[in-house]
Amino acid sequence: MSNSAFAANGPTLKPTKVGQVIIWRNKKYTSMKSGKSLIWDKGVEIVIPSPSQSASPTASQTPSSAPVLPAQAKDIRIAASSELGSGETKIFMLKDKYGRGKPYILTRTQSGLVAFDNVCTHEGCGVEVENKHLICKCHNSTFDNNSGKALSGPAFAPLKSYPVKEVNGEILVFDFPW
Ligand code: FES
Repeated sequence: MSNSAFAANGPTLKPTKVGQVIIWRNKKYTSMKSGKSLIWDKGVEIVIPSPSQSASPTASQTPSSAPVLPAQAKDIRIAASSELGSGETKIFMLKDKYGRGKPYILTRTQSGLVAFDNVCTHEGCGVEVENKHLICKCHNSTFDNNSGKALSGPAFAPLKSYPVKEVNGEILVFDFPW
């Protein structure tokens, strides 16, 4: 068995930049530098709680036998409200304790904030912001910065969106902590 920190059977797609995040075979992978190349990290299992897992532990369960509950989605601070002006679209990088980044695309539309994942729905490259346009340079798909809808292919599905709100001058996205 290999002791490599990185999955030998990781995503076949090549990462295009540091911090790119993709979901592949029920795992979340983040790209990172290894020498002069970009590689995927070993990936983190995505756990969806089942009703039996999320139930409260019973009195008969001892601490050692108690199930380890998966992380729950919660409001996560992404930026200060002042960092995103009216009509602006920006990518904000949320860093974890290891310094890895997860990008969120935020737009302050006329009717409020919207938040999207930057993972292209074609083959998982990172979507970038250019002059308020969302573009994936792997195969030139474009997405609407207000709705996340695919505007031109090969991607046809919209970007994943997140509930987003502002509280006390902070922009909060509802997502799973990582
Ligand atoms: S991966 Fe984005 S257009 Fe192909």
